[in-house]
Amino acid sequence: MRKGFSSNFGAIAAAAGSAIGLGNIWRFPYIAGESGGGAFIFVYLLIIAFVGLPMLIAEFSLGRNTQKNAFGVFKQLATNRKWYNVGVLGIVSSFIMLSFYVVIAGWTLAFLINAIKGIYMSMSSAEIQNSFHEFTTSGIAPLPYIALFLISTALIVMSGVDKGIERFNKILMPVLLILLMILCINSFTLDGFKEGIEFIFKPDFSKINADVALNALGQAFFSLSIGMGTMMTYGSYIRTKDNMLFTSSAVAISDVIIALLAGVAIFPAVFTYDIAPSSGPELVFITLPNIFAQMYGGYYLSILFFILLFVAALTSSVSALEVIIACVTEELKWSRKKGVYITTLLLMIMGGVCSLSMAPDSILKIGSKSLFDIFNDGTSIYLMPIGGFFIMIFTGWVLSDKIFKDELSSNGLYKVKYFKLLIFIVKYIAPLAISTIFLSELGFI
Ligand code: PHE
Repeated sequence: MRKGFSSNFGAIAAAAGSAIGLGNIWRFPYIAGESGGGAFIFVYLLIIAFVGLPMLIAEFSLGRNTQKNAFGVFKQLATNRKWYNVGVLGIVSSFIMLSFYVVIAGWTLAFLINAIKGIYMSMSSAEIQNSFHEFTTSGIAPLPYIALFLISTALIVMSGVDKGIERFNKILMPVLLILLMILCINSFTLDGFKEGIEFIFKPDFSKINADVALNALGQAFFSLSIGMGTMMTYGSYIRTKDNMLFTSSAVAISDVIIALLAGVAIFPAVFTYDIAPSSGPELVFITLPNIFAQMYGGYYLSILFFILLFVAALTSSVSALEVIIACVTEELKWSRKKGVYITTLLLMIMGGVCSLSMAPDSILKIGSKSLFDIFNDGTSIYLMPIGGFFIMIFTGWVLSDKIFKDELSSNGLYKVKYFKLLIFIVKYIAPLAISTIFLSELGFI
């Protein structure tokens, strides 16, 4: 038996730590803002329930059953070698995802330092926006922060899942939850409260179209860390006696709650400070400092918040890096150290390149889209749902129902009440939902 998480709570905390990250607090609000608020959130929740959660269950089961990495899972379970490509896709996706993720994580670190200096406390909304633009498009200024973040990620992955990852998450995730709740309570006091809440909770169904559905699909995959082998890898560290359905639901529910809380914390402020909900990736970064500047105890809370955001980003990047490291250590027999060194070095280069691509005169753009934008959207909208589609097909049609069911029941330890429904979703509903959204985006439906 390989070493894994030491308790069920530890497993949930680690997987929730992977799921909860910049995806919830940075990406979810801005994608919701761009895609019409409530209508997007409605589709998002449907996708989480009918595609995301079943996918999470499938990934955990494949991982735990084989006790292998994302590539090893298919090597062990598939007779046709073509399936190995799904593992390779996961590893490539992890690398691309990390290349842009470290850039935003670097920004959180820079914000933390500015928060400590108290810089934002006296700035106007317009000044905050300007300083953000200047910083992110300046070329080299973000690079040291990116490097620092990557080194932190590497150090945790180096010490392995049981010591490094689990211990960290158990304490910090609950603190993040409390802090977000404080921000939500503060939202009540803002002038834009009603407008903000209506924006996210009053869906205008006429706004639902293929783009909104595709964005919701991508966001669901990104936020749950599914479709690229992360949850398979973490599944392989879950104890055989832990209840899979409970573990997966706990992770999915906490992930959704944190995203919704982030929405409630952000949107009332967006309307209060006259920020466009469709501001894109900068939305949260230009909104938050305004909130702290007017809030009682804002100086201290801002420091605590950016520390937690940094940590939330860290526990997610750790899980993505673990996909690659588990694979190279088990398949190529590299040492953990060697794997971490080489991957981190490559990521330093790619992260730097992504960051530099945001400069206005950078050549790393296609049209108006920088390499950063292409990686950001490309991972969540295309790579992860495509990977997820094949993982679903594999679980539903190639893997025997018996193996899947045994995994869910922990070999008979728990009753699995809704297996027929689940297998129906895995076989038909989820793959159909993913393909329908893609086909309608491409204009075929
Ligand atoms: N789910 C993480 C977040 O919301 C991002 C992530 C995606 C992490 C894929 C690992 C793998 O920030």
